[in-house]
Amino acid sequence: MESIEAILEKDVLEREDLIRVLEADGADCGPLFRRAAEVKAARVGNRVYLRGLIEYSNLCSKNCLYCGIRSGNAAAARYEMTPEETIEVARHALERRYGSIVIQAGERDDALFVSKIERTLRGIRALAGDGLHVTLSLGEQTPDTYRRWFEAGAHRYLLRIEASNPDLFRKLHPDDARHRHALRLAALGALRAAGYQVGTGVMIGLPFQTAADLADDLLFFRDLDVDMIGMGPYLEHPDTPLYARARALLPPRERLELTLRMVALLRVMMGDINIAATTAMQAIDPEGRERAIRAGANVVMPNLTPARYRHDYLLYENKPCLDEAPEEIVELFEARIREFGGTIAYGEWGDSRRFLERTS
Ligand code: 5AD
Ligand code: SF4
Repeated sequence: MESIEAILEKDVLEREDLIRVLEADGADCGPLFRRAAEVKAARVGNRVYLRGLIEYSNLCSKNCLYCGIRSGNAAAARYEMTPEETIEVARHALERRYGSIVIQAGERDDALFVSKIERTLRGIRALAGDGLHVTLSLGEQTPDTYRRWFEAGAHRYLLRIEASNPDLFRKLHPDDARHRHALRLAALGALRAAGYQVGTGVMIGLPFQTAADLADDLLFFRDLDVDMIGMGPYLEHPDTPLYARARALLPPRERLELTLRMVALLRVMMGDINIAATTAMQAIDPEGRERAIRAGANVVMPNLTPARYRHDYLLYENKPCLDEAPEEIVELFEARIREFGGTIAYGEWGDSRRFLERTS
């Protein structure tokens, strides 16, 4: 069998190579993480960009089988922030020199929602000017809505494909016209056409998911030539249909190890994109995000959602940092990444190099 070192020497990693690395013994993966660290240092550097995360609302019109805020979960207490509250949080991010924010919410496409987001974006631009770049993570919308929000000041958009394999996607979503793999793909195309830096991603360790699926996810990211990636371990939520499959899952620690391996492989494959160290990693290991930074990630999203709402934005169990103040979390994170040469890039937008290169 080919060694991991030999595989990493190749100019282009193929499906079989990726499967081999994903299935390798943990003890054999040292060369992967070393290689990812080298590529990261050479292509994007060791600075970590901050995105202040604002969980704007947990109202959602969709019913994904894995998600705690799915519309079918009557146990979830629903909230929606106001544009004014959201702009106030953006002010905090600006004052703390975060450089950018992410506005995330459950998916809705009603006219009131669309116009409130537009108003929020205009308010943030009036407040911050060039001081903040704004990422949206608000699901599938019409090309017209994507254009409106872009014109109102959004720069980037995250829309995870969740699973690039359409058969796996179908097992994770209700079989109806609102939950279609093809629609999600079309939305990613519309985002690029509207001018956004486009991010996508998947969950790792899902029921039914194989190493070949994960290898195909990585190839999907490369083929789509994405600018940013956010992926995290799947974490079961008891009030969801997929919870029935919980016993068949990998143990959480192994889901995290697999996620770190995906991050490292992606950094080797796509040296100049932005890769997020996601909150779900930290739900498994208090130092999960720091480990992701070491594995090749270069973006972190401290949660700035007001505490009174944060407890209700529960996509999965054991969400971390429900009560800590974001400043303390960032300080601790900063101290930990310093130990291995990382620093935080305060006051910078941290746009995707891949995007800047493609559009220059
Ligand atoms: N475990 C992990 N991630 C989840 N997401 C939703 N539900 C879960 C879960 N149970 C992720 C999805 C979505 C993002 C906002 O959160 O990938 O795109
Ligand atoms: Fe809604 Fe997103 Fe959860 Fe699906 S994953 S139910 S679209 S919030």
